[in-house]
Amino acid sequence: MPDHDLTELLSRNRRWAADRESREPGFFTRLAQQQSPRYMWIGCADSRVPANEITGLDPGEVFVHRNVANIVGHSDLNALSTIQFAVEHLKVEHIIVVGHYGCAGVRAAMRGIRVGLADNWLRHVHDVRLRHRKRLDHLPPDEQEDILCEMNVIEQVGNVALSTVMQDAWARGQKVSVHGWVYGLRDGLLKDLQVTMDRPETVVQVFATALKRYPRQADDGTDTLFGSALDLEPDSR
Ligand code: CO
Repeated sequence: MPDHDLTELLSRNRRWAADRESREPGFFTRLAQQQSPRYMWIGCADSRVPANEITGLDPGEVFVHRNVANIVGHSDLNALSTIQFAVEHLKVEHIIVVGHYGCAGVRAAMRGIRVGLADNWLRHVHDVRLRHRKRLDHLPPDEQEDILCEMNVIEQVGNVALSTVMQDAWARGQKVSVHGWVYGLRDGLLKDLQVTMDRPETVVQVFATALKRYPRQADDGTDTLFGSALDLEPDSR
């Protein structure tokens, strides 16, 4: 990238800051004192899914964590530390896991495409696919990818809810809920996957209800909740 491109970014930034300050004098001084966002966004790193822009939120209004394929791994200290800070210090009221259709990470996991080091990270999505393959395998390929995007969100909502951070927050009586949304690149719209978890007693029920919306081809009752019996079959690679 030639330097000119970066010079352009810096001059755009100066224009943006001046414009912002003129529309709302004291904006930056106020924000510099403290942030008090009500929302935390956990989304994909994809450049087409910018949290603030999509939701019309200003700087200071949403606390953001993004990675490839919006994953919250049980031992991902980066994600867990960010959630902990958001819940315990910023006291966010809503944590929203946001996936998106057309996610390259989900597609790679679905089709067994090798991308490199990220293959290891995407095992998390691959695990979701394996666990729910009876709800996926009978669908046409494009639909499989869309549904896996949704199921990945539902699983990650469960992972956030089962984290010690959320369990401890709920045990203290803190009001904070976890939601799952999916974003459409084609229409710019967010869809609520109706998997809101707001207290520990309902986590498994909400999860099970959300999954029931995705019918299995042959219902043999072997589906499992939260990986109590992971499918350890060879993958398709
Ligand atoms: Co993505």
